[in-house]
Amino acid sequence: MAKPKRRYVCQSCGSVQSRWQGQCPDCSGWNTLVEDSGGVVTPFSARHNLRSGGTAFELVGLDSEVALPERMSTGIREFDRAMGGGIVAGSATLIGGDPGIGKSTLLLQAAARIAERGLDVAYISGEEATDQVRLRARRLGLGSAPVRLAAATSVRDILTTLGEGPPPALVVIDSIQTMHSDLIEGAPGTVSQVRASAGELIRFAKESGAALVLVGHVTKDGSIAGPRVLEHMVDTVLSFEGERSHQYRILRAAKNRFGGTDEIGVFAMGEGGLDEVGNPSALFLTHRGEAVSGAVVFPALEGTRPVLVEIQALTVRLASGATPRRAVVGWDSGRLAMILAVLEARCGLSFSTAEVYLNIAGGYRIVDPAADLAVAAALVSALSERPVPAEAVAFGEVALSGEIRPVAHGGLRLKEAAKLGFERAIVPASLQGEKGGLALTGFKTLRELVEHLLGK
Ligand code: TYD
Ligand code: MG
Repeated sequence: MAKPKRRYVCQSCGSVQSRWQGQCPDCSGWNTLVEDSGGVVTPFSARHNLRSGGTAFELVGLDSEVALPERMSTGIREFDRAMGGGIVAGSATLIGGDPGIGKSTLLLQAAARIAERGLDVAYISGEEATDQVRLRARRLGLGSAPVRLAAATSVRDILTTLGEGPPPALVVIDSIQTMHSDLIEGAPGTVSQVRASAGELIRFAKESGAALVLVGHVTKDGSIAGPRVLEHMVDTVLSFEGERSHQYRILRAAKNRFGGTDEIGVFAMGEGGLDEVGNPSALFLTHRGEAVSGAVVFPALEGTRPVLVEIQALTVRLASGATPRRAVVGWDSGRLAMILAVLEARCGLSFSTAEVYLNIAGGYRIVDPAADLAVAAALVSALSERPVPAEAVAFGEVALSGEIRPVAHGGLRLKEAAKLGFERAIVPASLQGEKGGLALTGFKTLRELVEHLLGK
């Protein structure tokens, strides 16, 4: 038999070459040619007739019966909330976050709560020895929870062990970067190892009905280390965020095949591990006293839940012609540049000789566009050194034209502000008058607001 001819296929453009080259001659991509064992190439005519020979299947209507996925509560309300109501059996979840943010703590607490309800939970640590995990559990007051614990990194050993008895209800793998599959070459943590290990573990979850939770470390640029493809392989991606120097932690869903991604879970890291925070507004607004310039309270919305946060701005006039700094913590720097530009171009305020610092108190991160108006008010207040009244909140979206646009769920935001004792609100013009005990001052344009704040 003739020796099969070697062929090399470009992984980028798909062109086929007869010899390996560093650069694809068709698309000019580097290192994209990979030897393709090829197998038998079906003759052209047969390949093009895919209209017969397959197995026919039934197509169904959108209104036919659906089996709702079986969910398991973690016993931690904030965790369940971020997951859309609990962990789905047979699903795979990836929890990403910076090292030391509290991923292991959160999962150990959830594992213990689930095990205490009589469900079988396996916690596999690839990072810590079993004694270390046990000590942590003891410190958390969970030393007697019937979690089954092991320190292991070989995916083959793990699957062999888990395959011996009935499948557990929950399997925690801490972390996927420490796992090793002997099906392929390479050190743990490399792209191919992470992908292969996750693939095998996920297959086990799907086949056995065990819920799988993978811990993933996050690199400096904020993405989960390992291939992006990991995010495509799992059903749910959660990120655990917060500043290590602050106690607040937020669990946020970035992807969820079984629910929405707009609810967050809020926690505080304390002596006894992670405590649930049922009322985040009260937490983020701890030290409110006298009104100071540059501080404005913004009623943010996370999913359906309002969270009041303080926005702080500071401006420092520069004497020389040095380029002034703009530094932002907790908000988008591009959005800050936009608000500064609108304040300059539409309202005649100049920040060009001032350094600008913007901070969201408590280590909170805002993505809600309704923060524009509160940020603008904080900047004007900082520049003019005139405080915005401490009993006021502000929200609204600012357009490049300087117009103030209404935002979603104004009513919810106002209700939360009133509940926490605020008396006034600076809002888009469509919300004039009084509502739920709050005096509303509406503005059509940013210019009107600036004039109001400067007392013109
Ligand atoms: P950990 O769960 O190990 O983080 P990760 O798994 O994301 O790397 O959390 C470690 C940090 O949490 C550590 O710096 C100490 C702190 N911590 C507390 O403040 N209180 C506690 O009860 C525990 C267990 C940890
Ligand atoms: Mg850890």
